[in-house]
Order: sequence, then structure tokens, then C-alpha cells
Amino acid sequence: MSSPTNRRPARKAVIPVAGMGTRFLPATKAVPKELLPVVDRPALQYIVEESARAGLAEVLMVTGRGKAAIEDFFDRTPELEAALEKKGDQARIDAVAESTDVAQVHFVRQGEAKGLGHAVLQAASFVGDEPFAVLLGDDLIDARDLLLEQMLAVQAEHGGCVVALLDVGADNIDKYGCVAVDDAPQTGAGDADQVVAITGMVEKPKKEEAPSSLAIIGRYVLAPEIFDAIRSTPPGRGGEIQLTDAILALLEQGVPVHGVVFSGRRYDTGDKLDYLKAVVRLAVERDDLGPALRPWLRSFVGDLPPEGASQA
Ligand code: G1P
Repeated sequence: MSSPTNRRPARKAVIPVAGMGTRFLPATKAVPKELLPVVDRPALQYIVEESARAGLAEVLMVTGRGKAAIEDFFDRTPELEAALEKKGDQARIDAVAESTDVAQVHFVRQGEAKGLGHAVLQAASFVGDEPFAVLLGDDLIDARDLLLEQMLAVQAEHGGCVVALLDVGADNIDKYGCVAVDDAPQTGAGDADQVVAITGMVEKPKKEEAPSSLAIIGRYVLAPEIFDAIRSTPPGRGGEIQLTDAILALLEQGVPVHGVVFSGRRYDTGDKLDYLKAVVRLAVERDDLGPALRPWLRSFVGDLPPEGASQA
């Protein structure tokens, strides 16, 4: 079913960053949640690096009010670089330059927060007539797990749309877009991520109504036809224009939609506990921090009272 247009390889990525970040208040009162540091880099920098690594170095961020600091972050900082140069601090000059050189970052404003589908629609003229990726800022995928690369390969093979899936269990599915699949993914089939054909989708279903426990996590490769589908998608769950509904509309028109069931490391940096886990896991593995952090962590954990015991 793939048309010639969506057989072209994707080159561009869209990152919606207009969300309010209420889960991290008060920190996010004045700092966009996407700039909260995961070790020493904003969560968003990992996402841009992931995109560039997968060959998508043209990035559009869909921003909103209160997000100007994101534009500043991806801008050059000649004064800062000159000051570091005077001090001969090459390591920090490199760190600062890295954040701007990794990709060509563009910005567009959403204007009104009318949902993820509406945010993605703002990218229509940037994207044009090619398939493209959407990366959501809250989902951090470990750099060693090549999820986006796999999704791009699946899109190149089948055309249409590809979403990243994770089995989040029946109790958590009401927080996500949920999919029905052709064949239930084989569990215990090894470490490789599985590719499944999607037959239905529903945004944040009740547990009893969910067709599976497979959740859409924040990576999509979409056919450009999605823009027309979004334009004709009425507000759905929460009164918002949902990307899930627009992808379902394409599916119902016969556009193939596949899922890559991710089996690697993913952190939801929009969730406080997962955010803490991400910081610890990434810091433990860093050459500059790991050697000092690991022994400290072992002794800290060893000293923790058992669960249920009263804290001093
Ligand atoms: C959005 C999507 C949802 C998806 C989720 C992944 O929801 O609407 O389908 O499962 O991202 O993080 P949000 O988290 O913005 O409410």
C-alpha cells in the first residue's frame, strides 16, 4: 500500500516540547521540563543526539509559551565560548559546542495547546512530502539500544507508519496509546525487538477496554499523509487532537502501520522515580563519574534499612 512518497527515507525529526511539565513543579515553573538535567545534559539533548545518530539531523521543535530557554540552549553562545577559551578550558568548550553542533534545530510555536496531533501538524511545511520521525521528550532511550534506527528500517521496508511499543502491563495501559496487533508478540523470543502489524489503536483506554497491554512509547515514524489525517481528526480523549486517532484513521484507509516492540532500556524522564533511575544508571556508567559513584552507591545501599523498617 505504500505510495512512492513514503518510500523515500526519512531525513527529518519533529520534537514536540510544548507540554507544561506539571509533574515536576515547582522546578518547572521557570525552567522547561525538557531542560532538566539528566546527569549534566538536558533530557532534550539526549533526544536530539538520538535523532542525529539515526541520520535525522534536521530537527524541528514545536514549542509553546514559557519555552524560550530551549531556543537559547540550542543557540551558539559566543561570549561563553570566549570566556572558556580565555581560561583554556577545552573540555567545556567542546561540551558547549556539542549541544549546538549535533543537529540543525528549527523552532515553530504551537500557539494553542490542542494536543499532540495538533503539535505534530505544526510541522507540516517543515516536513513536506516525506516520511519523518516524531520523538517525544519524556522518553529517553538508552544510546546503546537502536530503536529509532530499527523503526526507520521497518518504515523503509513496509512504508506507512511505525510506532514504538512497550508492554507496560494491563494496570498502566490507561496512561498510553494502546494498540491491537495481528499476532500477539512472542514472549521469550530472545532479546531482539519484534516487529508486529497493528490492526487497531485507542488513546488511553480503560484497562477493561484495552485491546492489549502494548503501549505506544514516544517514537514514531510517520508517512506525510498524517497531516491530512490530523486535519480531519476531531478532538478525542481529553478534548485534544490525538496523534493516535490520526494514525488510526490512516490505518483504516489501508495505510500499513507497524510496531517495533522495544526490549531495551527506556526511561520516562517525565516521571519522578524513572527520572531518578535514569540519572543514577547513566551516571554509574560514565567514565568520569562511575568509578567514584559505584562504590559510594554500594555502601549507601548496604546501609539502607530494610523496606518497612522505620527510618532514623
Ligand atoms: C502521548 C500519546 C500517547 C503515548 C504517550 C507516550 O501521551 O498521546 O499515545 O502513549 O504520549 O509517552 P501523553 O503522555 O502526552 O499524554
